[in-house]
Amino acid sequence: MAPRDIIILPDKRLRLISKPVDKIDGSIKTLVEEMFETMYAAPGIGLAAIQVGEPKRVVTLDLAKKEEPKAPQVFINPEIVWRSEEVRVHEEGCLSIPEFYEEVERPAQVKIRYLDLDGETHEVDATGILSTALQHEVDHLNGVLFIDHLSKLKRDRVIKKFAKAAKRAAE
Ligand code: NI
Repeated sequence: MAPRDIIILPDKRLRLISKPVDKIDGSIKTLVEEMFETMYAAPGIGLAAIQVGEPKRVVTLDLAKKEEPKAPQVFINPEIVWRSEEVRVHEEGCLSIPEFYEEVERPAQVKIRYLDLDGETHEVDATGILSTALQHEVDHLNGVLFIDHLSKLKRDRVIKKFAKAAKRAAE
């Protein structure tokens, strides 16, 4: 199995709304394996299936620090069922917007309901980096990017920069 290509801003597929997974079959398990391989190769801490061009509600995460053993986590059909009033600011990046980082304010805590690879339902009360990362990835499933949470000025600047780069690459 090989890592997949990660689609980059301004690829329009990043704006698609991903479809719920109705059956966790072999193709979903293969997709998850390929997503982990792609995420680790990048390297990154989180990936949504649409970032490898698959509009399915599948997210992979690994928030382990470099010196820690790998801690892969899979979230199928993740749904935010509660958000705290309290907010948290964290510097975010995205494998689809390489080398661009900016602080984003989001709810500090969220409750997320999701399925695991066996189709079992779970709920997680996420705080800290897990909260930020899951909100970032659930956004991807809804065609939302972290730059959408920035000022229009900052967002337009980064979109323009990536549009120019894509045009140059196509020449
Ligand atoms: Ni991202």
